[in-house]
Amino acid sequence: MAENGMDHASEKGYGQWHRRVFEGNAALFAIGATIAILIGGIVEIVPMFTPAGPEHSEAITPYTPLEVAGRDIYISEGCYLCHSQWVRPMRAEILRYGPWSRAWEYQYDRPFQLGSRRIGPDLHRIGNKYPDAWHYEHMRDPRSTTPGSVMPPYPWLLNGRIDAADVRASVVALRKTGTPYSDAEIAGVEESLTLQGGEIVSRLAGAGIETTPDRKIVALIAYLQRLGVEGKAALQAEGAEY
Ligand code: HEC
Repeated sequence: MAENGMDHASEKGYGQWHRRVFEGNAALFAIGATIAILIGGIVEIVPMFTPAGPEHSEAITPYTPLEVAGRDIYISEGCYLCHSQWVRPMRAEILRYGPWSRAWEYQYDRPFQLGSRRIGPDLHRIGNKYPDAWHYEHMRDPRSTTPGSVMPPYPWLLNGRIDAADVRASVVALRKTGTPYSDAEIAGVEESLTLQGGEIVSRLAGAGIETTPDRKIVALIAYLQRLGVEGKAALQAEGAEY
């Protein structure tokens, strides 16, 4: 083994005990490897069963039908490929995004949208950061609000429409996985869509933008504008510093 440049003396010393105890004894090596893997496994798994805080908070309400529709668009357009939804407990992140994300804020996120890459900024506290009209323009053409942005435009969201039957199906599916929607809420999906959509449409009209409550962009705005808002309010109410 000297030809690969390793220090001869130390290789010899290392080789002696390792070869004797492990490499020369397959059974002992297997046991040793198993113990090493078990220690690694326990270190990773045990923290998952010992939550550091509450897993549930009354402060978080389930997504409204319009927000569910917006969330479905967020997923189908692959926004999570460039955006995380997880403010980490680090000073730089807290200064930029606000309070770090708590586990209970995700209680109705099925599936969660933590994301794994940040080509764009984290979106977990994007709610209320910009007016609705900003999001409308940003989705139409990101470079119109943010010069030099590398985010792709999503102009089809401006004309595309959501389908109330699809939204109802999503809400019913979420109820099956544990989100507490009442029968009345499920029966009132259409009404709720028009009502909340109408509020966003009138705010957009105030900024000179004409659209209708059933547009995809309206649903996406409803979703983005609620992200992180309830959690942040609850944290501030309990006096959490960050
Ligand atoms: C190719 C990567 C990419 C994809 C995909 C993408 N974005 Fe972005 N996004 C960015 C980048 C980069 C920025 C920062 C520049 C800007 O504001 O446009 C950004 C910014 C944003 C912002 C403003 C954040 C802030 O705090 O200022 C929002 C909101 C946003 N994106 C929403 C979305 C939504 C919704 C989708 C899916 C429909 C999406 N993005 C898809 C890259 C991406």
